[in-house]
Amino acid sequence: MTFELQHTDSASDARTGLITTDHGQIKTPIFMPVGTVGSVKGVHFSELREQVKAQIILGNTYHLYLRPGLEVLRQAGGLHQFNTWDRPILTDSGGFQVFSLTGIRKLREEGCEFRSHIDGSKHFFTPENVMDTERVIGADIMMAFDECPPGQSDYNYAKKSLMMTQRWLDRCIKRLDETEPLYGYRQSLFPIVQGCTYKDLRREAAKFVADKGADGNAIGGLAVGEPTEVMYEMIEVVNEILPKDKPRYLMGVGTPQNILEAIERGVDMFDCVMPTRNGRNAMLFTYEGTMNMRNKKWEADFSPIDPDGCDIDRIHTKAYLHHLFKAQELLAMQIASIHNLAFYLRLVTDARQHIEQGDFVQWKRSVIDNLGRRR
Ligand code: GUN
Repeated sequence: MTFELQHTDSASDARTGLITTDHGQIKTPIFMPVGTVGSVKGVHFSELREQVKAQIILGNTYHLYLRPGLEVLRQAGGLHQFNTWDRPILTDSGGFQVFSLTGIRKLREEGCEFRSHIDGSKHFFTPENVMDTERVIGADIMMAFDECPPGQSDYNYAKKSLMMTQRWLDRCIKRLDETEPLYGYRQSLFPIVQGCTYKDLRREAAKFVADKGADGNAIGGLAVGEPTEVMYEMIEVVNEILPKDKPRYLMGVGTPQNILEAIERGVDMFDCVMPTRNGRNAMLFTYEGTMNMRNKKWEADFSPIDPDGCDIDRIHTKAYLHHLFKAQELLAMQIASIHNLAFYLRLVTDARQHIEQGDFVQWKRSVIDNLGRRR
Protein backbone atom coordinates (compact mmCIF):
# COMPACT_ATOMS: atom_id res chain seq x y z
CA MET A 1 0.00 0.00 0.00
CA THR A 2 1.26 3.49 -0.82
CA PHE A 3 0.01 6.98 0.06
CA GLU A 4 0.48 10.07 -2.04
CA LEU A 5 -0.21 13.34 -0.22
CA GLN A 6 -1.87 15.49 -2.86
CA HIS A 7 -2.89 18.81 -1.32
CA THR A 8 -2.48 20.44 2.09
CA ASP A 9 -4.85 23.22 3.14
CA SER A 10 -3.13 26.54 3.87
CA ALA A 11 -5.63 27.56 6.58
CA SER A 12 -5.78 24.24 8.51
CA ASP A 13 -4.18 20.80 8.75
CA ALA A 14 -6.70 19.29 6.29
CA ARG A 15 -5.21 17.34 3.41
CA THR A 16 -6.16 15.25 0.41
CA GLY A 17 -4.35 12.13 -0.70
CA LEU A 18 -4.47 8.92 -2.68
CA ILE A 19 -4.01 5.45 -1.18
CA THR A 20 -3.10 2.71 -3.64
CA THR A 21 -3.70 -0.92 -2.70
CA ASP A 22 -3.64 -4.08 -4.81
CA HIS A 23 -7.47 -3.93 -4.78
CA GLY A 24 -7.65 -0.36 -6.07
CA GLN A 25 -7.28 3.25 -5.00
CA ILE A 26 -8.87 5.28 -2.21
CA LYS A 27 -9.21 9.05 -2.35
CA THR A 28 -8.81 10.67 1.06
CA PRO A 29 -10.39 11.96 3.21
CA ILE A 30 -12.52 8.82 3.18
CA PHE A 31 -15.31 7.22 5.19
CA MET A 32 -15.29 3.41 5.35
CA PRO A 33 -18.64 1.64 5.84
CA VAL A 34 -18.55 -0.98 8.60
CA GLY A 35 -19.02 -4.56 7.40
CA THR A 36 -18.33 -6.39 10.64
CA VAL A 37 -19.04 -9.97 9.55
CA GLY A 38 -18.19 -9.40 5.89
CA SER A 39 -21.46 -7.66 5.03
CA VAL A 40 -22.59 -4.06 5.53
CA LYS A 41 -25.86 -4.46 7.40
CA GLY A 42 -28.84 -4.05 5.07
CA VAL A 43 -26.81 -2.89 2.07
CA HIS A 44 -25.94 -5.14 -0.87
CA PHE A 45 -22.51 -4.74 -2.48
CA SER A 46 -24.09 -3.53 -5.74
CA GLU A 47 -25.69 -0.67 -3.76
CA LEU A 48 -22.44 -0.02 -1.92
CA ARG A 49 -20.73 0.42 -5.27
CA GLU A 50 -23.41 2.28 -7.22
CA GLN A 51 -25.39 4.28 -4.64
CA VAL A 52 -22.99 4.74 -1.73
CA LYS A 53 -19.85 4.86 -3.88
CA ALA A 54 -17.85 3.20 -1.13
CA GLN A 55 -14.15 2.87 -1.92
CA ILE A 56 -13.15 0.61 1.00
CA ILE A 57 -15.07 -1.29 3.69
CA LEU A 58 -14.21 -2.67 7.11
CA GLY A 59 -14.30 -6.21 8.43
CA ASN A 60 -13.79 -7.35 11.98
CA THR A 61 -11.30 -10.01 13.00
CA TYR A 62 -13.14 -11.01 16.19
CA HIS A 63 -16.46 -11.59 14.40
CA LEU A 64 -14.99 -13.28 11.31
CA TYR A 65 -12.80 -15.55 13.44
CA LEU A 66 -15.89 -16.73 15.36
CA ARG A 67 -18.12 -16.91 12.29
CA PRO A 68 -17.67 -18.23 9.57
CA GLY A 69 -14.27 -19.16 11.10
CA LEU A 70 -10.79 -19.48 9.68
CA GLU A 71 -11.29 -22.79 7.91
CA VAL A 72 -14.13 -21.49 5.72
CA LEU A 73 -12.30 -18.22 5.02
CA ARG A 74 -9.14 -20.09 4.02
CA GLN A 75 -11.07 -22.47 1.76
CA ALA A 76 -12.91 -19.52 0.16
CA GLY A 77 -9.56 -17.89 -0.65
CA GLY A 78 -9.99 -14.94 1.75
CA LEU A 79 -12.77 -12.47 2.47
CA HIS A 80 -12.68 -10.72 -0.94
CA GLN A 81 -13.38 -14.04 -2.69
CA PHE A 82 -15.93 -15.07 -0.08
CA ASN A 83 -18.11 -11.94 -0.15
CA THR A 84 -17.16 -10.77 -3.72
CA TRP A 85 -16.25 -7.21 -2.64
CA ASP A 86 -13.33 -6.59 -4.98
CA ARG A 87 -12.27 -3.17 -3.65
CA PRO A 88 -10.01 -2.63 -0.61
CA ILE A 89 -10.88 -4.08 2.81
CA LEU A 90 -9.54 -3.03 6.22
CA THR A 91 -9.85 -5.35 9.20
CA ASP A 92 -9.99 -4.16 12.78
CA SER A 93 -7.99 -6.47 14.99
CA GLY A 94 -10.73 -7.39 17.41
CA GLY A 95 -8.98 -5.47 20.20
CA PHE A 96 -11.93 -3.15 20.60
CA GLN A 97 -14.60 -5.89 20.44
CA VAL A 98 -12.81 -8.26 22.81
CA PHE A 99 -12.34 -5.50 25.35
CA SER A 100 -15.98 -4.52 25.25
CA LEU A 101 -16.78 -8.05 26.49
CA THR A 102 -16.25 -6.92 30.10
CA GLY A 103 -16.84 -9.71 32.56
CA ILE A 104 -16.18 -12.45 30.00
CA ARG A 105 -12.53 -11.71 29.28
CA LYS A 106 -9.16 -12.00 31.03
CA LEU A 107 -6.27 -9.80 30.00
CA ARG A 108 -2.60 -10.63 30.52
CA GLU A 109 0.75 -9.93 28.88
CA GLU A 110 0.51 -12.93 26.58
CA GLY A 111 -2.89 -11.92 25.22
CA CYS A 112 -6.59 -11.88 26.01
CA GLU A 113 -8.83 -14.79 26.92
CA PHE A 114 -12.51 -14.29 26.21
CA ARG A 115 -15.78 -16.09 25.76
CA SER A 116 -17.65 -15.97 22.46
CA HIS A 117 -20.75 -13.75 22.53
CA ILE A 118 -22.38 -16.42 20.31
CA ASP A 119 -22.03 -19.69 22.26
CA GLY A 120 -19.90 -18.87 25.32
CA SER A 121 -16.95 -20.94 24.06
CA LYS A 122 -13.47 -19.97 25.32
CA HIS A 123 -10.84 -18.40 23.02
CA PHE A 124 -7.44 -16.76 23.38
CA PHE A 125 -6.20 -13.87 21.20
CA THR A 126 -2.52 -12.96 21.06
CA PRO A 127 -0.80 -10.41 18.81
CA GLU A 128 0.64 -13.37 16.89
CA ASN A 129 -2.56 -15.30 16.27
CA VAL A 130 -4.51 -12.11 15.46
CA MET A 131 -1.93 -11.33 12.73
CA ASP A 132 -2.30 -14.90 11.45
CA THR A 133 -6.09 -14.46 11.40
CA GLU A 134 -5.82 -11.15 9.51
CA ARG A 135 -3.59 -12.95 6.98
CA VAL A 136 -6.34 -15.58 6.51
CA ILE A 137 -9.03 -12.90 6.12
CA GLY A 138 -6.72 -11.24 3.60
CA ALA A 139 -7.47 -7.57 4.31
CA ASP A 140 -5.47 -4.93 2.42
CA ILE A 141 -5.03 -3.01 5.68
CA MET A 142 -4.69 -4.89 8.98
CA MET A 143 -4.99 -3.18 12.34
CA ALA A 144 -2.54 -4.02 15.13
CA PHE A 145 -3.86 -5.89 18.18
CA ASP A 146 -4.24 -3.26 20.91
CA GLU A 147 -6.02 -2.67 24.19
CA CYS A 148 -8.62 0.08 24.01
CA PRO A 149 -8.89 1.03 27.71
CA PRO A 150 -12.19 2.32 29.14
CA GLY A 151 -12.77 6.05 28.64
CA GLN A 152 -12.60 6.85 32.34
CA SER A 153 -9.31 4.96 33.00
CA ASP A 154 -7.00 6.57 35.58
CA TYR A 155 -3.47 7.58 34.62
CA ASN A 156 -1.79 4.49 36.03
CA TYR A 157 -4.09 2.11 34.20
CA ALA A 158 -3.79 4.12 30.97
CA LYS A 159 0.01 4.05 31.18
CA LYS A 160 0.23 0.34 31.99
CA SER A 161 -2.18 -0.47 29.20
CA LEU A 162 -0.27 1.68 26.71
CA MET A 163 3.02 -0.02 27.54
CA MET A 164 1.41 -3.39 26.85
CA THR A 165 -0.16 -2.16 23.58
CA GLN A 166 3.33 -1.05 22.53
CA ARG A 167 4.89 -4.43 23.35
CA TRP A 168 2.01 -6.06 21.47
CA LEU A 169 2.74 -3.83 18.46
CA ASP A 170 6.32 -5.08 18.34
CA ARG A 171 5.01 -8.65 18.47
CA CYS A 172 2.53 -7.91 15.63
CA ILE A 173 5.34 -6.48 13.48
CA LYS A 174 7.63 -9.43 14.21
CA ARG A 175 4.92 -11.94 13.30
CA LEU A 176 4.16 -10.20 10.02
CA ASP A 177 7.87 -10.11 9.17
CA GLU A 178 7.97 -13.87 9.67
CA THR A 179 4.88 -14.62 7.54
CA GLU A 180 3.66 -13.92 4.00
CA PRO A 181 0.30 -12.84 2.56
CA LEU A 182 -1.68 -15.95 1.56
CA TYR A 183 -3.43 -14.77 -1.58
CA GLY A 184 -0.79 -13.00 -3.66
CA TYR A 185 -1.62 -9.35 -2.86
CA ARG A 186 0.03 -7.00 -0.40
CA GLN A 187 -1.16 -6.35 3.17
CA SER A 188 -0.22 -3.33 5.31
CA LEU A 189 -0.22 -3.06 9.10
CA PHE A 190 -1.52 0.10 10.79
CA PRO A 191 -0.37 0.60 14.41
CA ILE A 192 -2.83 2.25 16.83
CA VAL A 193 -2.03 5.20 19.11
CA GLN A 194 -3.63 4.81 22.56
CA GLY A 195 -3.10 6.82 25.78
CA CYS A 196 -6.65 7.74 26.84
CA THR A 197 -7.05 11.47 27.48
CA TYR A 198 -3.52 12.03 28.84
CA LYS A 199 -1.51 14.31 26.56
CA ASP A 200 1.91 13.04 27.65
CA LEU A 201 0.83 9.42 27.05
CA ARG A 202 -0.65 10.32 23.66
CA ARG A 203 2.64 12.04 22.68
CA GLU A 204 4.68 9.09 23.85
CA ALA A 205 2.39 6.69 21.98
CA ALA A 206 2.50 8.76 18.79
CA LYS A 207 6.33 8.86 18.87
CA PHE A 208 6.53 5.11 19.46
CA VAL A 209 4.15 4.45 16.57
CA ALA A 210 5.79 6.99 14.21
CA ASP A 211 9.19 5.31 14.72
CA LYS A 212 7.84 2.04 13.28
CA GLY A 213 7.58 3.60 9.81
CA ALA A 214 4.29 1.81 9.05
CA ASP A 215 2.32 2.42 5.81
CA GLY A 216 -0.35 4.26 7.83
CA ASN A 217 -1.24 5.02 11.44
CA ALA A 218 -4.40 5.01 13.52
CA ILE A 219 -5.71 6.90 16.53
CA GLY A 220 -7.76 4.67 18.82
CA GLY A 221 -9.30 4.94 22.25
CA LEU A 222 -11.40 8.01 21.43
CA ALA A 223 -15.16 8.58 21.33
CA VAL A 224 -15.39 6.34 24.40
CA GLY A 225 -17.19 8.84 26.63
CA GLU A 226 -14.75 11.78 26.83
CA PRO A 227 -16.03 15.30 25.98
CA THR A 228 -15.83 16.09 22.24
CA GLU A 229 -13.40 18.97 22.86
CA VAL A 230 -11.03 16.58 24.64
CA MET A 231 -11.20 14.21 21.67
CA TYR A 232 -10.25 17.08 19.31
CA GLU A 233 -7.37 18.05 21.60
CA MET A 234 -6.03 14.47 21.58
CA ILE A 235 -6.21 14.38 17.77
CA GLU A 236 -4.18 17.63 17.62
CA VAL A 237 -1.53 16.35 20.04
CA VAL A 238 -1.13 13.07 18.14
CA ASN A 239 -1.21 14.53 14.62
CA GLU A 240 1.59 16.94 15.51
CA ILE A 241 3.80 13.86 15.81
CA LEU A 242 2.45 11.29 13.32
CA PRO A 243 4.19 11.51 9.92
CA LYS A 244 2.47 13.77 7.39
CA ASP A 245 3.24 11.52 4.44
CA LYS A 246 1.26 8.56 5.78
CA PRO A 247 -2.53 8.24 6.11
CA ARG A 248 -4.05 8.81 9.56
CA TYR A 249 -7.11 6.84 10.57
CA LEU A 250 -9.39 7.93 13.45
CA MET A 251 -11.10 4.75 14.63
CA GLY A 252 -14.83 4.57 15.32
CA VAL A 253 -15.64 8.28 14.77
CA GLY A 254 -18.29 9.67 14.44
CA THR A 255 -20.99 12.24 13.67
CA PRO A 256 -20.73 14.33 10.48
CA GLN A 257 -19.55 17.27 12.63
CA ASN A 258 -16.86 15.11 14.32
CA ILE A 259 -15.61 14.02 10.91
CA LEU A 260 -15.28 17.58 9.58
CA GLU A 261 -13.50 18.74 12.75
CA ALA A 262 -11.09 15.79 12.51
CA ILE A 263 -10.42 16.40 8.81
CA GLU A 264 -9.55 20.00 9.74
CA ARG A 265 -7.02 18.54 12.21
CA GLY A 266 -5.33 16.30 9.62
CA VAL A 267 -7.23 12.99 9.77
CA ASP A 268 -7.69 11.08 6.49
CA MET A 269 -9.76 7.96 7.26
CA PHE A 270 -12.89 7.24 9.30
CA ASP A 271 -15.28 4.42 10.14
CA CYS A 272 -18.36 4.36 12.32
CA VAL A 273 -21.50 2.27 12.79
CA MET A 274 -23.58 5.43 13.17
CA PRO A 275 -24.88 5.77 9.58
CA THR A 276 -26.09 2.15 9.48
CA ARG A 277 -27.09 1.71 13.14
CA ASN A 278 -28.94 5.04 13.37
CA GLY A 279 -30.40 4.44 9.90
CA ARG A 280 -31.95 1.16 11.08
CA ASN A 281 -33.44 3.21 13.88
CA ALA A 282 -35.11 5.65 11.41
CA MET A 283 -32.57 8.47 11.82
CA LEU A 284 -31.35 10.14 8.65
CA PHE A 285 -28.34 12.47 8.33
CA THR A 286 -28.54 15.38 5.88
CA TYR A 287 -26.80 18.74 5.35
CA GLU A 288 -29.95 20.36 6.81
CA GLY A 289 -29.79 18.26 9.99
CA THR A 290 -31.05 14.90 11.23
CA MET A 291 -34.56 13.57 10.61
CA ASN A 292 -36.52 10.97 12.55
CA MET A 293 -38.48 9.24 9.80
CA ARG A 294 -41.02 7.84 12.29
CA ASN A 295 -42.13 11.40 13.04
CA LYS A 296 -45.70 12.14 11.91
CA LYS A 297 -44.50 15.32 10.24
CA TRP A 298 -43.26 13.23 7.26
CA GLU A 299 -46.58 11.36 6.82
CA ALA A 300 -47.66 13.30 3.71
CA ASP A 301 -44.37 14.91 2.67
CA PHE A 302 -44.00 13.83 -0.96
CA SER A 303 -40.67 15.55 -1.54
CA PRO A 304 -37.65 13.32 -2.25
CA ILE A 305 -35.81 11.84 0.76
CA ASP A 306 -32.85 14.01 -0.27
CA PRO A 307 -33.01 15.90 -3.59
CA ASP A 308 -29.19 16.12 -3.73
CA GLY A 309 -28.58 12.54 -2.59
CA CYS A 310 -28.07 9.19 -4.35
CA ASP A 311 -30.58 7.73 -6.88
CA ILE A 312 -32.55 5.99 -4.13
CA ASP A 313 -32.85 9.31 -2.24
CA ARG A 314 -34.27 11.00 -5.30
CA ILE A 315 -36.63 8.18 -6.37
CA HIS A 316 -38.39 7.76 -3.01
CA THR A 317 -40.36 10.28 -0.98
CA LYS A 318 -40.12 11.04 2.73
CA ALA A 319 -43.76 9.96 3.07
CA TYR A 320 -43.00 6.53 1.57
CA LEU A 321 -40.00 5.99 3.87
CA HIS A 322 -42.11 7.11 6.88
CA HIS A 323 -44.75 4.57 5.86
CA LEU A 324 -42.14 1.78 5.55
CA PHE A 325 -40.84 2.49 9.06
CA LYS A 326 -44.38 2.57 10.52
CA ALA A 327 -45.14 -0.75 8.78
CA GLN A 328 -41.85 -2.21 10.05
CA GLU A 329 -40.79 -3.15 6.53
CA LEU A 330 -37.18 -4.34 6.10
CA LEU A 331 -36.89 -1.99 3.11
CA ALA A 332 -37.14 0.99 5.49
CA MET A 333 -33.88 0.02 7.18
CA GLN A 334 -32.24 -0.69 3.83
CA ILE A 335 -33.16 2.68 2.31
CA ALA A 336 -32.15 4.57 5.46
CA SER A 337 -28.79 2.75 5.63
CA ILE A 338 -28.06 3.43 1.95
CA HIS A 339 -29.04 7.09 2.34
CA ASN A 340 -26.86 7.60 5.42
CA LEU A 341 -23.81 5.86 3.95
CA ALA A 342 -24.20 7.76 0.67
CA PHE A 343 -24.45 10.97 2.72
CA TYR A 344 -21.26 10.19 4.70
CA LEU A 345 -19.41 9.46 1.44
CA ARG A 346 -20.75 12.70 -0.05
CA LEU A 347 -19.61 14.62 3.03
CA VAL A 348 -15.99 13.42 2.74
CA THR A 349 -16.01 13.86 -1.06
CA ASP A 350 -17.24 17.46 -0.63
CA ALA A 351 -14.57 18.02 2.04
CA ARG A 352 -11.95 16.73 -0.39
CA GLN A 353 -13.15 19.08 -3.11
CA HIS A 354 -13.11 22.11 -0.79
CA ILE A 355 -9.61 21.28 0.46
CA GLU A 356 -8.48 21.21 -3.17
CA GLN A 357 -10.29 24.48 -3.91
CA GLY A 358 -8.64 26.11 -0.89
CA ASP A 359 -11.86 27.06 0.94
CA PHE A 360 -12.29 24.08 3.29
CA VAL A 361 -12.45 26.08 6.53
CA GLN A 362 -15.07 28.54 5.21
CA TRP A 363 -17.12 25.66 3.79
CA LYS A 364 -16.92 23.72 7.07
CA ARG A 365 -18.08 26.79 9.00
CA SER A 366 -21.00 27.25 6.60
CA VAL A 367 -22.33 23.69 7.00
CA ILE A 368 -21.43 22.57 10.51
CA ASP A 369 -24.25 24.20 12.50
CA ASN A 370 -26.97 22.86 10.20
CA LEU A 371 -25.54 19.32 10.38
CA GLY A 372 -26.40 19.22 14.10
CA ARG A 373 -29.95 20.52 13.77
CA ARG A 374 -33.05 18.37 14.23
CA ARG A 375 -35.41 18.70 11.30
N1 GUN B 1 -12.38 0.97 17.13
C1 GUN B 1 -12.66 2.13 17.75
N2 GUN B 1 -11.69 2.44 18.64
C2 GUN B 1 -10.78 1.45 18.57
C3 GUN B 1 -9.54 1.18 19.25
O1 GUN B 1 -9.08 1.94 20.11
N3 GUN B 1 -8.87 0.03 18.92
C4 GUN B 1 -9.36 -0.84 17.96
N4 GUN B 1 -8.66 -1.94 17.67
N5 GUN B 1 -10.52 -0.60 17.31
C5 GUN B 1 -11.20 0.52 17.61
